[in-house]
Amino acid sequence: MPTEEASKPVVIVGAGVSGLALGNFLLREGIDCVVLERRDRDHVERRQRAGVIDTRATRAFRKRGLEDRIVGGSPVQAGLGFRVDGQDRWLDLVADEHREGRFCPQQVLVRNLITVFEQEGGDLRFGTEVTVEDGERPRVRLGDGAIIEGDFIAGCDGSHGATRAAIPEGRITRHSHEFGYAWLVVLTDAPPTRQTLMAIHSRGFAAAFARGPEASRFYLQCPLGDTVADWPDERIWSELETRFCEPIATKGTIVEKGLVPLRSEVLSPMSHGGIHLLGDAAHIVPPSSAKGMNLALHDADVFAEALVRYYEKDDRSLLDAYSDTRLRDVWNYQAFATWFTDTVHDAGDPGCRGEFRHRVARADLARLFTSDTANRLLSEFIAGLN
Ligand code: APR
Repeated sequence: MPTEEASKPVVIVGAGVSGLALGNFLLREGIDCVVLERRDRDHVERRQRAGVIDTRATRAFRKRGLEDRIVGGSPVQAGLGFRVDGQDRWLDLVADEHREGRFCPQQVLVRNLITVFEQEGGDLRFGTEVTVEDGERPRVRLGDGAIIEGDFIAGCDGSHGATRAAIPEGRITRHSHEFGYAWLVVLTDAPPTRQTLMAIHSRGFAAAFARGPEASRFYLQCPLGDTVADWPDERIWSELETRFCEPIATKGTIVEKGLVPLRSEVLSPMSHGGIHLLGDAAHIVPPSSAKGMNLALHDADVFAEALVRYYEKDDRSLLDAYSDTRLRDVWNYQAFATWFTDTVHDAGDPGCRGEFRHRVARADLARLFTSDTANRLLSEFIAGLN
């Protein structure tokens, strides 16, 4: 089989949020790159996950003149809706920082990222699985044996991707944390009743989030050992109504369900030679923090700036600092994600982690409604500006 050797300044592995955002940011700055994605376009465009782009990520698109074409979307609501033991508790966020956030389902963001990248002449190849090889000039090997070398490889290939595997054993440490429970994640084809609602209840946490005019997502805390077969549709609706303590007005049809164990992970450092990790390839946060997509966008923002500095000024300082810069932020968000996740789960079911944790979580939750300082801190985390 013939082996084609090619070279690009930046080779991006993976066309998820991090890879596509990085590709667009680089193209905007005139830095040539290729994005290689193992799945087909249809699969990538349909993948349903997050729904809110935070202020910091919105600004990353705005400063490159890409906000209208890529983010669009409506402003996020100015607070968080809770139902605590069946009582509505609306938390107005006092700080204005979060207001630039945008409600934009991930598949809409991904479709826009692909459209703009291709309109601008970007090189995006679907159905292209690669392996990554370390070296003085790192490179990727395509399925047909062809090789593409890069000054840099951006590993945007998620937590099971090929880039991590190319970093020699012992050069990177994996820090992980299991929360000890899972979420049953349910997608329906019905419009949402409210944009965001989180139920704190003794049977466990539940949430309802809008995902566009004709889609809603529901979440139910459940034990780690549960399977989808344990959750027939009727049980899901009945459990949601129990935890929300009210009927679900617009049920619609359940079109997808799955179980996600809640966990966090950080790989440290996020760089090795010319190989740099972005997004889920470097860190996982639990979905309860709504930060997975945003951290991926923050990574792309910081890495793109580092590459611009390198190619324009022959200055490696931002590249060399990439891992430290991002890890500082990532650990900060892990702290927030851990606190928020523990609080909304422990405040509900005392059986989860015991009566002591339950009472601590109730106090933490109450403080959000009584202390401007606690509220401001939460607002800043939600905005992505901590
Ligand atoms: N070759 C090419 N592509 C690959 C390879 C490979 N060897 N391995 C994985 N990929 C592709 C996957 O098919 C996937 O499309 O990399 C992409 C990784 O995308 P995501 O998993 O979405 O990762 P990321 O872009 O970091 O996502 C960031 O957005 O909604 C969230 O849950 C998501 O938290 C995550 C965040």
